[in-house]
Amino acid sequence: MVSRVIPVDVFDLVVFGGTGDLAQRKIIPGLYRRYWGGHIPPESCIIGAARSDLDDAGYRALAREAIIEYVAEDKRDPEIIEAFLARLSYVAIDAKGTGGWDKLKARVRKGTVRAFYFSVAPSLFGDLAERLHLHGIANPESRIVVEKPFGRDLESAKALNAVLAQHFTEAQIYRIDHYLGKETVQNLMAVRFANILFEPLWKSEYVDHVQITVAETVSVDGRGSYYDRAGAMRDMVQNHMMQLLCLIAMEPPYHFDPDAVRDEKLKVIRALDPVSPDDIVRGQYLAGNGQGSYLEHCEDPASKTESYIALKVNISNWRWKGTPFYLRTGKRLRARTSEIAITFREPPHSIFDDAEGWRENVLVIRLQPNEGMNLKVMIKEPGPGGMRLTQVPLDMSFAEALGESGADIPDAYERLIMDVIRGNQTLFMRGDEVEAAWSWTDPIIEGWEERGDKPMPYDAGSSGPEDALMLMHRDGRRWREIRE
Ligand SMILES: NC(=O)c1ccc[n+]([C@@H]2O[C@H](COP(=O)([O-])OP(=O)(O)OC[C@H]3O[C@@H](n4cnc5c(N)ncnc54)[C@H](OP(=O)(O)O)[C@@H]3O)[C@@H](O)[C@H]2O)c1
Repeated sequence: MVSRVIPVDVFDLVVFGGTGDLAQRKIIPGLYRRYWGGHIPPESCIIGAARSDLDDAGYRALAREAIIEYVAEDKRDPEIIEAFLARLSYVAIDAKGTGGWDKLKARVRKGTVRAFYFSVAPSLFGDLAERLHLHGIANPESRIVVEKPFGRDLESAKALNAVLAQHFTEAQIYRIDHYLGKETVQNLMAVRFANILFEPLWKSEYVDHVQITVAETVSVDGRGSYYDRAGAMRDMVQNHMMQLLCLIAMEPPYHFDPDAVRDEKLKVIRALDPVSPDDIVRGQYLAGNGQGSYLEHCEDPASKTESYIALKVNISNWRWKGTPFYLRTGKRLRARTSEIAITFREPPHSIFDDAEGWRENVLVIRLQPNEGMNLKVMIKEPGPGGMRLTQVPLDMSFAEALGESGADIPDAYERLIMDVIRGNQTLFMRGDEVEAAWSWTDPIIEGWEERGDKPMPYDAGSSGPEDALMLMHRDGRRWREIRE
């Protein structure tokens, strides 16, 4: 099966922070891959902007290095690389200064889709928005893309929303949560709403509980002081895991339309119960395997920030009352894996004597590695010896099932940037959604701060703190093993 290539319209994309880490690792290589894939018309222009004193040739050299480093060899075609680099240029601009704006204005073309990627610190969003208007570079059709973190609490998120709203309408603002650009995350919606199979069972009557795991093996070494101001709750739960939870829990939107989808996600966030301290376990990794501890990496021996969090979340609505969602995420864990596991309830009555062989049906949606789905079903154990039951996986790797097109799954950033150019906001967070997520998160974090709660230590390479096991054991459930 080969996926259809539908090119986007010709565009001018200005990447503020075009020399930074995100631009070099994700944005430029991602744009190249879409150019290579035929999605980007050759007349499109990409303009890097930052304070560094570079000319077009210097910026192209930087971009060439990024492509060589971050694009797989089989997609690095010298001719296509040169053609792509010819579409790149650079303007030196200080977001807080006056120079360079007229030059930028001269570079963007009339009648072309115009987008501005703010790949800079959020403290510069207001300056950029203001100057784009002041210099007549943004127009009512322009789009802006803003990066996470979108605030560190409700107050700062509201302030950011207010600053952007002074110059751009909500329909022009694309708040990135790159999790939403992942193929499997979008597949959650396809699985739920394009099949009749699951939806009738997708409720507390049939679902015992849901587990969402995002486990990482990496430490925070090298960005410890940045991470220490956030922690797992702000860095992962408030945004990425919240989005996953919403896609699992939301009602079917009336149409796959940006506001219809986001309205439904917002309703889920608003239905989240406050989380009691007893339903949260936080942890900090210890030193191990030749690497330092969290406290060494964050350079604050008294830090109370968590590198791991597990929590039990309840949704107070008709569909989910009585079905807990267990969320966990952390650094320096046993394996790098992200998955959502939906565990179904027991059948109401068993006609088989082999109660021991029985296991719950589990639908596992793997986000990484090896994106795919696995449905655990009961069958008869083969062979003579009576009716004994055993569980087998119906396993599907998307890459295997889809052949050539499955092997070329675009990176989340590529897909999201193409959506910006197409003007499709479905996979971007709306302002009210972000604020609602902070409204739920803030009291939890404030509670830790008021009580002076300290995270529990956990071994590097483990599954997290022991107490996290208890979070499920006491409910008569257990976490799935963390493994690749
Ligand atoms: N890196 C990631 O993986 C990642 C992931 C998720 C979100 N983000 C977010 O993406 C944004 C960029 O992150 P990053 O990691 O790329 O940061 P970075 O490596 O520090 O890059 C920052 C960029 O902003 C430019 N810049 C700084 N001050 C400026 C100013 N006054 N005017 C114009 N340009 C200025 C810098 O270039 P000059 O010094 O030349 O001006 C550089 O190009 C941040 O909001 C970050 O939170 C990053």
